[in-house]
Amino acid sequence: MFLKTLKNELKQNLNKANNIKLKKIKRKVIKIRYLVTSALPYVNNDLHIGHIAGCILPGDVYSRFLKLKGEKCIYVCGSDEYGTPIVLAAEKEGLSPKELADKYHEKQKKAVDGFNINFDIFSRTTTKEHTKVVQDFYYNLKQNNFIYRKKIKQLYCPKCKRFLADRYVEGTCPYCGAEGARGDQCDSCGKLLNPLELINPHCTVCGSTPIVEESEHVFFDLPKLEKELTEWLENHEGLFPNTKKFALNFIKEGLREKDISRDINWGVPIPDAPGKVFYVWFDAPIGYITFTKQLGKENWWHDKSTQLVHFLGKDNIPFHSIYFPGMLMAEGSYILPSKIASYEYLTFKGSKLSKSKGTAIKALDALGLFPADYWRFYLIANLPEKKDSDFTWESFQEVINTELNDTIGNFINRTLTFAKKYFNSKVEKPELRKEDEEVIKKAEEKAKEAAKLIEKIELKKALQETVEIARIGNQYITKEEPWKKEEYRKEVVYTCLHLTKLLSFMLKPFIPESSEKIENFLNKKTKWSQLTQKEEEYELNDFEILFKKIDKKEI
Ligand code: 2FM
Ligand code: ZN
Repeated sequence: MFLKTLKNELKQNLNKANNIKLKKIKRKVIKIRYLVTSALPYVNNDLHIGHIAGCILPGDVYSRFLKLKGEKCIYVCGSDEYGTPIVLAAEKEGLSPKELADKYHEKQKKAVDGFNINFDIFSRTTTKEHTKVVQDFYYNLKQNNFIYRKKIKQLYCPKCKRFLADRYVEGTCPYCGAEGARGDQCDSCGKLLNPLELINPHCTVCGSTPIVEESEHVFFDLPKLEKELTEWLENHEGLFPNTKKFALNFIKEGLREKDISRDINWGVPIPDAPGKVFYVWFDAPIGYITFTKQLGKENWWHDKSTQLVHFLGKDNIPFHSIYFPGMLMAEGSYILPSKIASYEYLTFKGSKLSKSKGTAIKALDALGLFPADYWRFYLIANLPEKKDSDFTWESFQEVINTELNDTIGNFINRTLTFAKKYFNSKVEKPELRKEDEEVIKKAEEKAKEAAKLIEKIELKKALQETVEIARIGNQYITKEEPWKKEEYRKEVVYTCLHLTKLLSFMLKPFIPESSEKIENFLNKKTKWSQLTQKEEEYELNDFEILFKKIDKKEI
């Protein structure tokens, strides 16, 4: 009897303990975290403003906003340092590939720092860690039966005595007929190519016509994933419509096996194929994993609560929507991308900004002309989201003078001037009227809308909504005439200060430096959770004019 009671008691206690445990588990809500990446720029050149606009800056705005909201988020990037793009550029500059990479990595880093790009890491692919991550990845693919070898016919330049792949060979694209298609991809139609398909191929170093020779290569069995990739793409909601359309069309034409080996000596060595290195597009996207690992956060890649968000230019769509997800599926232990945001080109008088045509504006030169925030503001306002957008100095001047200066700068300057002039820079919260509350409500709605748009990665519209806050403020000031009408002056100035607070918060991802200045004038640091809270009092710091109009002469 006694034993039985004891047993029952024990059982009850156990149940209680289990219940508590269960409740604890239920309470632990899964917290999403964001791993944001920007396509790795080749280290063969200076960054130009097209690079900044076409993926680096949008990724920065997005990740900055998530961080501002208090989300767990990291933004990773680095330079893409292997492959023929680097070897060829090095030959041209009379440097070794390593010397070239060292030179441009430093310059690229300086440029992204100058643009206030808030990467958690801007790394490089020529590190020991990266080699190890890539080789381990390869072994896993091999173990999962996605790797095989095959003798293939290849183009060979008898004069240069080397096999021609990627940028060593150019010709006419067999699909769209464009001249200058490279051995691995046609930039005109975006198709991935095999050098043997090129019409009239020639060696890009000496111009000779190559001959066909045989050699053994290592292949990734992408066609095996056709069904899985199609299903994944079709059911995927996080892709920009243009990305999705492009990727599904791409698959419809049939996936082809992918040659992942190259007979050059500048790359990650293929461990079981002496003398061969991985194709640069095999190792580069794995760089996202390496760089995350370098931050000590590799586990993010194995955790379903991580949202992987890629930012890239449109020429990189096939690699990020098919090739890399295919590699990840085949490897099996990593998450797949949640969102892929791809951008069109920033053009100059209708043609792609290109260094060779002399139409590229180097990022570092741009910073020598105007402050980073002017560029950031303009490039987002003119973002090539759904179609190419044209860069002109006239449009740059127009956007900076009207939106940044007349609308935003002017509103903030008027607000702070009234506060100083009439209230000695100290404004306590008054009893607000219905019309003040209405203005506040309208402005807060704009801020909320802008926030939603950033999360949907519609950054151009998000910036427009943010500018609306200042426009609402300007109209309100014009109507209330606080310089003339004394009666409700305090209410009006307080309301404008509240709008300034909203504005400085929402501008932060776009123009962080100026927004910090505004915050400093306001003498308040705002959190997302307190954004709409009304301050008891403002005790303002001294302020200065934020922006300057661009004179016609300057452009
Ligand atoms: O097109 C390019 O500039 C490539 N270097 C992009 C590489 S992105 C990658 F790492 F996935
Ligand atoms: Zn040649």
